[in-house]
Amino acid sequence: MTQDLTAGSHYWMPFTPNRDFQLHPKLVIGAKDQYYTDAAGRRILDGLSGLYTSPAGHGRESIADAVSRQLRELDFVPGFLRAHPKVYELTQRLTAMLPAALNHAFYVNSGSEAIDTAMKLCLAYHRARGEASRTLFVSRERAYHGVNLGGIALGGLAGNRRVYTGALPHVFHMRHTALPENRFTPGQPKHGAELADDLLRLVQLHGAENIAACFVEPIAGSTGVLPPPVGYLDRLREICTAHGILLVFDEVICGFGRTGKAFAAQTFGVTPDVMTLAKAITNGALPMAAVAVNDRIRDTIFQAAPDGAIEFYHGYTWSSHPVCCAAALAAFDIYEGESLFARGEALAPYFQQQLFTLADLPVVTDVRGFSMLGGIDLKPSGAPGSRGYEVQKKLFDRGLHLKNTGDAITLAPQLIFTREQVDEMIAVLRTVLQECKV
Ligand SMILES: Cc1ncc(COP(=O)(O)O)c(C=O)c1O
Repeated sequence: MTQDLTAGSHYWMPFTPNRDFQLHPKLVIGAKDQYYTDAAGRRILDGLSGLYTSPAGHGRESIADAVSRQLRELDFVPGFLRAHPKVYELTQRLTAMLPAALNHAFYVNSGSEAIDTAMKLCLAYHRARGEASRTLFVSRERAYHGVNLGGIALGGLAGNRRVYTGALPHVFHMRHTALPENRFTPGQPKHGAELADDLLRLVQLHGAENIAACFVEPIAGSTGVLPPPVGYLDRLREICTAHGILLVFDEVICGFGRTGKAFAAQTFGVTPDVMTLAKAITNGALPMAAVAVNDRIRDTIFQAAPDGAIEFYHGYTWSSHPVCCAAALAAFDIYEGESLFARGEALAPYFQQQLFTLADLPVVTDVRGFSMLGGIDLKPSGAPGSRGYEVQKKLFDRGLHLKNTGDAITLAPQLIFTREQVDEMIAVLRTVLQECKV
């Protein structure tokens, strides 16, 4: 039945081998709490929280009700020159959740838009304070910052960049932190804090006066989950502060309880100047994202503009969409009402312990994990990435939704998982990984 729908279809899928998918479709027709339902009516455990989007599980009635009410009350008003009350309420609640210094929010619709918006904010800030020469960006190998041209330039996954190299803004990459001596280390690795000094080398080479900002994911997610070495983020903060470089945390995956606290900045005790957020802001119910900045950035940009002028020439048709704001507010009610982040934090040690039991399998070459995130590297077989791709297909067929990036498998269980669901996830992984020929 499903192949009848997909074979020869004109639908072009994102980040998917389309031709293989048409032959081996994985159609999902429903979702409730911790499970998807596929086209055959089977339950599929959601070990990735959708796509890191849905920590409170699927089909939450209160979000559906809030969205439906909002559609009837005010379905749309532009964010340009107009506003609506819910965006103020959302900003007040979001900034209360963020590190205290980050108290202004600009809304967009995806993580990729948040990243490109953050890049423009950094450039606008330096220009406003009379340092327009700061136009270079620093990021890191193996980073993922979305797919718009700014984010692709910052990104450090080769496959995502190669086709577009000539069209990208100037970005220099620090080395990644996946050191061989850190293999199979639970939590933050001990080795590698000194890799933050790559930023210092770039300052020495290009001149701080030319560098606008340093972008990092506190935990690099998409690449297969690389927690920061102990002291690494603190060192980046020190170097940025010493050289007038803005530190940007991309918390598109890490935000909203994924690392135990609301944001990884709080978990690791390092405050950036700018933060990008997306995904779980609405529990995945509707597209929404945000860029949060501190007073200094907002005030500098505001004060540089003449009275009555637009301060920041930027925005999207869907920025601050009232229905997305309603979805986010309903998601925040769940997060607070169910103490969801604390619930994830309480389950995390058990999840981590079970995750690391997979280290004995011959196909597994590394396991990494922090709080409610996990990554497993698999021994390649054939072309790079083909093992990972085949494994994620088999996992789905056995009733588990996870994702691969190349030959790494990433796990991001919903924060409402029970211990039994952690066991179910690990059991399916063990079965499938045991079947891999090495
Ligand atoms: C860290 C990070 N930044 C940015 C993005 C891009 O977000 P989106 O897919 O919503 O554009 C992602 C997506 O996974 C991400 O993981």
